[in-house]
Amino acid sequence: MSLLSLKNVTRRFGSLSALSNISMEVPQGELRAVIGPNGAGKTTLFNLISGFFPPSEGELLFDGQSVKGVPPEKLVHRGMIRTFQITEIFLDLSVYENLEIAVETAHGLNLRPWLSPARRRQVRAHIDELMQTLHLEDLAYRMAGELAHGDQRVVEIAIALAREPRLLLLDEPTAGMGDEETDRMTDLIRHLHQERGITMLFIEHDMSIIFNVADRITVLDNGHLLAEGTPAEISANADVQAAYLGAAR
Ligand SMILES: Nc1ncnc2c1ncn2[C@@H]1O[C@H](COP(=O)(O)OP(=O)(O)OP(=O)(O)O)[C@@H](O)[C@H]1O
Ligand SMILES: [Mg+2]
Repeated sequence: MSLLSLKNVTRRFGSLSALSNISMEVPQGELRAVIGPNGAGKTTLFNLISGFFPPSEGELLFDGQSVKGVPPEKLVHRGMIRTFQITEIFLDLSVYENLEIAVETAHGLNLRPWLSPARRRQVRAHIDELMQTLHLEDLAYRMAGELAHGDQRVVEIAIALAREPRLLLLDEPTAGMGDEETDRMTDLIRHLHQERGITMLFIEHDMSIIFNVADRITVLDNGHLLAEGTPAEISANADVQAAYLGAAR
């Protein structure tokens, strides 16, 4: 069974159809890239999946259950976690404090004024595990706002991972990054997919990343589903070449 299923989903903003009649199935464990030119509807797709607004028409299923109209905070509890096209972390807190808030929230402890020593140890162990996985140990006590853009993106992913997502949605995780930062993010995405088996959808413009790591690719163009397939199928697809890849290659 698919973890995520979209059936004939349409989203209109006034007279504009940002997405038209999109159907897609994302099986458990898949790493799916979503590509398409600017304004194709990629972020709108993420907004619909993660409950930021409902589809105008169509059906959305997560783990076999309808999630149409379910708000983001409820979806987060069910394991659907996203990051944004613009990085969202607490800039005036340290990396450690950012993760502390994320882990305490994930454990349902954020409103407790006092934690037992056992709970405190559990929270610390989880923070340490996240910092190790994401190689953030050296940055633990740096203010998030002082970090390089690439490191901020990694912190954002650490925050998302604190909730142990079943579906992770990454909106342009490498946007604005240099080559080295991009390589590091690509390795991280590959690791989360291969070692942790997290089902992921990621929006990306960099073709080398997409063709390197994605199991399958969904191509949007002007709100329509232009194509879907393996990297080999997509790179050989004449429609995709004409509409999108032609300019990039
Ligand atoms: N909340 C909104 N209200 C009105 N129009 C919107 C809204 N969100 C998106 N749109 C419109 O929907 C279309 C798709 O936008 P979207 O942000 O999904 O594109 P995108 O593929 O993510 O583009 P980019 O690569 O630039 O991030 C655009 O024409 C955009 O202006
Ligand atoms: Mg976008």
